[in-house]
Amino acid sequence: MAGAPVKQRVFRGGRVLVLALFYLSALSNHVDAAVNPTDVGVLNSLSAAWGANTMNWGTGDPCTWTGVFCDPTGTKVMNLLLQATNIAGTIPAAIGSFTGLEQLDLSYNPGLGGPIPPQIGQLTTLTSLIIQNCALTGPVPPEIGNLKNLTFIGLNNNYLSGSIPSSIGSLQQLYWFDLSTNNLTGELPVSTKTTDGYGLDTMTGCKHFHFNNNSLTGPLPSEFGAPPDGIPKLTKLIHMLLENNQLSGSIPDSIANLTSLEILSLSNNKFTGIIPPGLSRLATGPLGSTLEQILVGGNQLTGTIPNFTALNPKLAVVEFSKNLFDPQPFPEWLKSAPTLQTVYMEYVGLIGPLPADVLAYPSLETLWVRNNSLNGTVIIPPVIGPKLLTLSLQNNEFVGFTQTNTSTNMSQIDIELAGNPACDANNVGRPTQLCDQPSGSKLPWSSPFVSNCPSVTCSDSLVLNPLKTGNCNCTLPLEMQLEARRPTFSVITDSLIETLRLKLVAQLNLQNSQVWISTAAFSADGRAEINVDFFSADGVSDLDRASTSNITHSLTSNSLVLDEIKPYLARVIVSGETFFATSKKRLGTGAIVGIVLGVLAALAAVGIYAFWQRRRAERLKHISKPFAKWGKGEGESALDAPQISGARFFPYSEVKRITNNFSENNEIGVGGYGKVYSGVLDNGNKVAVKRAAKDSMQGAEEFKNEIELLSRVHHKNLVGLVGYCYDQGEQMLVYEFMPNGTMSEWLRGKMAYPLDWSKRLSIAVGSARGLAYLHELADPPIIHRDIKSQNILLDDKHVAKVADFGLSKQAPDGLQIQTAQVKGTLGYLDPEYYMTNELSDKSDVYSFGVVLLELLTSKAPIQNGKYIVREVRTAYQEGGLEGVESILDPSVFEASQEDLRRFLDLALSCVEELGADRPSMNEVVRELETLANRNKPKAKASAQATDETWLTDVYGDEDYDDAGQGTSSNFKYSGGYKMPAPEPK
Ligand SMILES: *[C@@H]1O[C@H](CO)[C@@H](O)[C@H](O)[C@H]1NC(C)=O
Ligand SMILES: *[C@@H]1O[C@H](CO)[C@@H](O)[C@H](O)[C@H]1NC(C)=O
Repeated sequence: MAGAPVKQRVFRGGRVLVLALFYLSALSNHVDAAVNPTDVGVLNSLSAAWGANTMNWGTGDPCTWTGVFCDPTGTKVMNLLLQATNIAGTIPAAIGSFTGLEQLDLSYNPGLGGPIPPQIGQLTTLTSLIIQNCALTGPVPPEIGNLKNLTFIGLNNNYLSGSIPSSIGSLQQLYWFDLSTNNLTGELPVSTKTTDGYGLDTMTGCKHFHFNNNSLTGPLPSEFGAPPDGIPKLTKLIHMLLENNQLSGSIPDSIANLTSLEILSLSNNKFTGIIPPGLSRLATGPLGSTLEQILVGGNQLTGTIPNFTALNPKLAVVEFSKNLFDPQPFPEWLKSAPTLQTVYMEYVGLIGPLPADVLAYPSLETLWVRNNSLNGTVIIPPVIGPKLLTLSLQNNEFVGFTQTNTSTNMSQIDIELAGNPACDANNVGRPTQLCDQPSGSKLPWSSPFVSNCPSVTCSDSLVLNPLKTGNCNCTLPLEMQLEARRPTFSVITDSLIETLRLKLVAQLNLQNSQVWISTAAFSADGRAEINVDFFSADGVSDLDRASTSNITHSLTSNSLVLDEIKPYLARVIVSGETFFATSKKRLGTGAIVGIVLGVLAALAAVGIYAFWQRRRAERLKHISKPFAKWGKGEGESALDAPQISGARFFPYSEVKRITNNFSENNEIGVGGYGKVYSGVLDNGNKVAVKRAAKDSMQGAEEFKNEIELLSRVHHKNLVGLVGYCYDQGEQMLVYEFMPNGTMSEWLRGKMAYPLDWSKRLSIAVGSARGLAYLHELADPPIIHRDIKSQNILLDDKHVAKVADFGLSKQAPDGLQIQTAQVKGTLGYLDPEYYMTNELSDKSDVYSFGVVLLELLTSKAPIQNGKYIVREVRTAYQEGGLEGVESILDPSVFEASQEDLRRFLDLALSCVEELGADRPSMNEVVRELETLANRNKPKAKASAQATDETWLTDVYGDEDYDDAGQGTSSNFKYSGGYKMPAPEPK
């Protein structure tokens, strides 16, 4: 059952000795009330297969072994709960021989792979089968259909293949069926087409179909709502999650018979035809209207969005983006939806004005109507919705902007207007701030709580619990990440996080100070990921095994009600005592990913690391002499600061003015060192200001050295330093502003643009050159240490520039994120550097290799628990170019096979395990330039007008110094919706 607590382990004092004896005489059966020999035999087989003897398995009463829970008489194993215990290997067939197993949970063991043995079908007493976030392969065994008492199947986030067995359709008790994020193919089984007469349409009790993120094909069966006997069975279904598959055909009108449906998610498939207006009938079931979320973006739907007024009562999230709709006005019926929270409607062909009252909707938080053809004037009405936070209006035909509102919450709204005629440079009333608002600034969040033991620095994965006042102990928490499976909100607020935290405390029955939410951020596709640390109650010991098991099982079995992120997915990042401690020696990439995930949590420690070669140290001292008068920092007069060529000194007052007094509206980023703000200089040039937080400031000497160094770094592929501020106790660096966003946004942001092969090459060549300069030509050489797609920016001509230099080589002390000396970003971190703590230029090469793989696949380095390096490498090794085809972004097939192979070889050589096996950045640049030149004639011939600026960079015939002066042509797709790139064959 959903809320079933973990059954208590039965302790029976005084029997340990007896049982030890029993155990020694393994199969003898003369001891009363001991675990039956069959179950003991199974446990022994599992122990042998999984190395479970490291967890106290093998001696004493099996009922006291880690994760083994017996029935009240102590004669059989009832529950086997081994989440996050670092078991590794495959699941032995013997598991089918347990005599009375009811709950099996093996989740969060990345080393557990191979197929699920068909013998699992012998466990007829089983009620819940949970093996999520492991590395299972092979098919979902049809024998699971024999387990008639099953209520819960959670096999998500593995590598299972084959199709969904129809036999599972016979399980009438099953209410949770989760196979999401696997490698499943084939059609959704329905009873009319299967030989056993079962299918998903016969699952009378099921509430959850979670089949998203697979490769399922075929139609969404009309039988779901209209079975052959005419009596709909799926009337309990509340979540139908089918996004990110290859489903096709039209959306059947009969879905309207699933009268309990709360979430209908069909995004990113190949659905065609219209959205059936008949879905309105969903509101006429016995429960009235239940639908909360309808997500159909990223298909090939036509016609217009129907009037769904009837569905309004519960509607919170609508996503219609990126379809092939006819031109249509903004759907006015949405206005009567009292709980409407999030609207995604980009590339849906909207025309006409944006009705002013949209902005007054009572619960609207996020409205995305960018990339349409809306026109007229944007009118901010006198009264705006109290919850409105994000208004994304870019790339429409708006000619003006009028604000009649004076209320205070105006300042909290992020309005983005770029790419409209209202933002033309010669427009008299140009609303500068709205026009220059960087797009898609979905900001990460980090806890306002900081430790009150600033002098304590925890080592390894130990963490100081900032909620436990007066306690300066570093302990090992259970670190988990909760991921919202839907893009329901686009701003993470303190109150949202606190609400979630209190729910965790209450529902897990923990003390208030045991649950700390350290950071939260958005994934590339806009879903929130929230990092939670669970601490022991006493503040002194590490979180114990029993609590770890209880918390993880509550999450895998979906026993917690967390509406804010419903439905959610939970991952273990570091599970204290076991995972981290025992996996460090294992050098497989999987283990390293696990460790890295944990150690780094979500915050990237940014900055550079300059390694001064010994013989250069003396020279440097000399160079830094011009700073001699600069004093010690805090409270020093600005007049003492020197003027150095190449970097201007900014008084604090000026920075304050150009950033609107560091207003929230100007915030464009945040990291371990502090925040980044946008600002406009008096000469009209835009800049980005990186402001060190109080506790991440450096000593005066170090800061001087850093500016000294940065002011001498000039290259067209590096974001230029404009100046610095060292005044009023502040340390800030001022950089040129990059109007065209980050490579990551172009590949995966909410408005990811199609990037063709030559653009991808252009980004690769440009950023490689920038990095090569840092390694080979900067004096002293600089190791960037945080190369990633978010740090590769595009200027107004789409020249790629490496960003994020300087300030805070050290992340702030005392903050929780500062748990390891190794710095970098999850997914990009060189495993060798991680293991040895020795940084070299080859660590950047590794990270750059990951960037190249992103350019090939458009995927994030870690996506759905899959690590891009491993995924590509394995597929390539096993199947050559054909093997990786399905992973690559379709647009790269524009390249010739040979070019693709060379690019892939280069990327994989950069991510070799050993630094010595990786090429230098110079070698990388040479190979990329060769590829770019081979690509040149074809690319130029087919280039669109807007593409030309991309190409100049590749062939290097443009000078850096001109780059800022060119006519700033706003990059924009003129035709509104762009057809998706064709699929590979
Ligand atoms: C299935 O559940 C029912 C009701 O709890 C129980 O009576 C029955 O014994 C169970 N079947 C098996 C095979 O355990
Ligand atoms: C996923 O499935 C595809 C096609 O069936 C196959 O080529 C690929 O190797 C599979 N990937 C994994 C990780 O099993």
